[in-house]
Amino acid sequence: MLILRTCHQLNALASISSNNRLVAPAKNAYKSIINTRPMATTVGAKDVKGAIEINGLTYPTDDWTNVTPKILSYLGANKHLQRNHPLSIIRQRIVSYFYSAYRNSRGNPLFSVYDQLSPIVTVEQNFDNLLFPGDHVSRAKADCYYINRNHLLRAHTTAHQSDLISCGLDNFMVAGEVYRRDEIDSTHYPVFHQLDAVRLVTKDTLFGRNLDLEIFEKDWQFHVQNHSPPQTSSKCLDETKQACHTLEAVKLMEHEMKNILVGLARDLFGTQLEYRWVDTYFPFTQPSWELEILYKGKWLEVLGCGIMRHEILQRSGAHNQIGYAFGLGLERLAMVLFDIPDIRLFWSNDSGFLNQFSEENLHKLPKYKPVSGYPQCTNDLSFWLPTGVEVDAGFACNDFYDLVRSVAGDVVEQISLVDRFKHPKTGKSSVCFRIVYRHMERTLTQAEANQVHKRIADACAETFQVQIR
Ligand code: DAH
Repeated sequence: MLILRTCHQLNALASISSNNRLVAPAKNAYKSIINTRPMATTVGAKDVKGAIEINGLTYPTDDWTNVTPKILSYLGANKHLQRNHPLSIIRQRIVSYFYSAYRNSRGNPLFSVYDQLSPIVTVEQNFDNLLFPGDHVSRAKADCYYINRNHLLRAHTTAHQSDLISCGLDNFMVAGEVYRRDEIDSTHYPVFHQLDAVRLVTKDTLFGRNLDLEIFEKDWQFHVQNHSPPQTSSKCLDETKQACHTLEAVKLMEHEMKNILVGLARDLFGTQLEYRWVDTYFPFTQPSWELEILYKGKWLEVLGCGIMRHEILQRSGAHNQIGYAFGLGLERLAMVLFDIPDIRLFWSNDSGFLNQFSEENLHKLPKYKPVSGYPQCTNDLSFWLPTGVEVDAGFACNDFYDLVRSVAGDVVEQISLVDRFKHPKTGKSSVCFRIVYRHMERTLTQAEANQVHKRIADACAETFQVQIR
């Protein structure tokens, strides 16, 4: 989940001010390798001098720009909407579960679905509206793809929550791709897909005929009348509920939400499912939980959820409602449900992969059969960093991973930092990355891997001013 960052990411945060200089030269270095993936037909992105043009709109670049042409080439790919694609099948399973779980008095689905919202959002949408503190680690340049200081590629589909509530919606789902800078391995990809949902209720819907029950504490209403605009402090976050809500309102919402979400997990994984709720923290919900399921003997986190922070509802005009929200990752679910071993496969256009899945019967989820185990090629890349530069102090590994993605694309299966060394005399730092190459659809020869490796080394030397060893 977005907010639970590893130490590695915290370290990366420490280096944001020092890695600015890596951004500008990177643009030139990428020139030779733009369009390693064909541009999606519905979206056009152009690198104009001092600006990026996406779909006819021009965004000025600045010292926060770190989005690469390679990453922009994923815009409009819409894997979650592609016919017979495993991500689309999982999305449809979740949507149809919600359609049948919640119906209005005429028998129609209560939830509406938004699955084609633009992934270009403002910092306000992605963070501020969701009450992320100004210094929250998730905002780091090392972790997000920024177009400029004001715009980024959404890091979660929760970014649309407050706008949709402002539009007057009470029950809705948002599905789409999200973008995060991360390491490279079989479960991480810079673009992946999420589905978020919100349900808001009024006092009448929540308590029915129990007219003496209230959603809000009386004292709190007094407090709000006397303090507008609403307070945004996160003081109440250690408590089991927000100060404004009554215990009965929160408990009833929690019960409904957990019931529905366990129902969803059972629908996907079978009724025998073993699960547990784990308390957690999100800036936009309080209380918050993660649902974990026991899968092949290990606890696996499948979603995050909670009671929505009332400040968000208030600012979006839903003053008298209480809501729950949740968000989940489609790749994680699809990998488990179809037994898909590598996240890159979701981007494969190989018919051997795609023909294994069909949305004809959403309740039949076949296990993926590897087309063939193509061999891996492993090459190490060692280089001296410029004087005074070290990992996380002037050199961010995520910048290196992005460069590798831009140069080599999906033939890189994994990268790991295998060695760090500081020369006792010169004081210069050296790093060694192990890069594992494997083609998803055919055998990659060692000679081909060497060629790609050489291109990475050249781009790396030029972009980061390092000396290849
Ligand atoms: N946005 C969170 C993430 O990407 C997931 C999430 C958690 C979404 C709780 C929600 C929620 O709507 O209520 O990690």
